[in-house]
Amino acid sequence: MYQGKCVILGVTGGIAAYKALDVASGLRKKGIIIETVMTENATKFVTPLTFRSITNNPVSVDTFAEPKIWDIQHISLANKADLILVCPATANIVGKVANGIADDLLTTTIMATKAQVVFALAMNTNMYENPIFQSNVEKLRKLGYGFIEPVEGILACGASGKGRLAPVEQIIAETLIYLHRPKDLTNKRVLITAGATREAIDPVRYITNHSTGKMGYALAEMAKRRGADVILISGPTNLVPPPGVTVVKIKSAREMAEEVFRYFDQVDIVIKSAAVADYRPAVAVSHKIKKKDEDLIIELSRNPDILYELGKRKDKQVLVGFAAETDNLLANAQEKIKKKNLDFIVANDVLVPGAGFGYDTNIVKMITPDGSIEEYPLMSKEEVANKVLDKALKIYNSRYLE
Ligand SMILES: Cc1cc2nc3c(=O)[nH]c(=O)nc-3n(C[C@H](O)[C@H](O)[C@H](O)COP(=O)(O)O)c2cc1C
Repeated sequence: MYQGKCVILGVTGGIAAYKALDVASGLRKKGIIIETVMTENATKFVTPLTFRSITNNPVSVDTFAEPKIWDIQHISLANKADLILVCPATANIVGKVANGIADDLLTTTIMATKAQVVFALAMNTNMYENPIFQSNVEKLRKLGYGFIEPVEGILACGASGKGRLAPVEQIIAETLIYLHRPKDLTNKRVLITAGATREAIDPVRYITNHSTGKMGYALAEMAKRRGADVILISGPTNLVPPPGVTVVKIKSAREMAEEVFRYFDQVDIVIKSAAVADYRPAVAVSHKIKKKDEDLIIELSRNPDILYELGKRKDKQVLVGFAAETDNLLANAQEKIKKKNLDFIVANDVLVPGAGFGYDTNIVKMITPDGSIEEYPLMSKEEVANKVLDKALKIYNSRYLE
């Protein structure tokens, strides 16, 4: 599938530069042609010779080097790239690209390309958290640049925090996702819900759950990349929505219901990955409840069951639910499919390490009304998102195109 694709591997001057060798090697094993462009500073960490030996291709550093055959190298590299992966990506290169600087071969190639550019970030935690760096990332995200976020851990400088290059296997997997991007959802409208809801107790307190919205945002991003027209109805979260997606922000389950029902008739696929609160305080007090010596009892009222309602209204839409369970995962998921008239359910046990709330990974089972179960290993949420979209599209096509 990837045979003959060309990835320009940009290597910049970070301590993780040696890990880019394993990334290059892994991608080569998939039949991908790797051409490496190193910054001058990157060559202080690893030599071009090492990348040349791993990739079996020449390595370029200098924009003005005498070419072996006549060629304007940054243009030919920019044109031949199916993808530019910058790994590791320093704070410096992100800053340069975000501000239109093209003062070496790598930044000039990035400026000249129409291919997707992805930065696998690695740096000291304070550099990562620096608001200047974060605003550069946000600017580039909005322009469609991809990012593979660093992970938490002990850093080369001895500090501990977010900043370590993501694991090599994850970088390879995400690169393959970027490369394999069929536009098979073009002309489809996909509605995705994400995150938790907040149910007000009084003006300053609320009931919520641990959902961060990562799964829903990954679904929105993948659906958008595959050409869909995406509506993302999101509870409160710090995540940055993918570029080009219509984002509707809500707080409570009732607001979520209102927005979902508003769009339902206009969409082809609905994926409800939000963790909607089942109950809300029966009365949302309009002033802050004063602390007293005795206990406080809050009466809860049932929130609307959005999925159940959608199941009743379902016409042409493929309807997908998520089940985050801690006990009797399969039995509960199957009951939910029947009760809510779903096409399939994505079930995850939120107590298993690596699955569910807050993780960048998930372990899921997809269950259909006939009881068949597809089990998947630990995958990034982006990979899970693509599996969910593959299945939803297959059902849509079998229903309407065959
Ligand atoms: C030992 C060492 C390790 C470094 N590691 C990183 C790093 O992981 N991430 C980063 O953004 N900068 C790191 N730097 C700083 C960059 O090398 C510096 O900002 C440089 O200008 C980057 O140049 P480039 O982006 O053109 O490669 C490191 C510097 C040294 C001396």
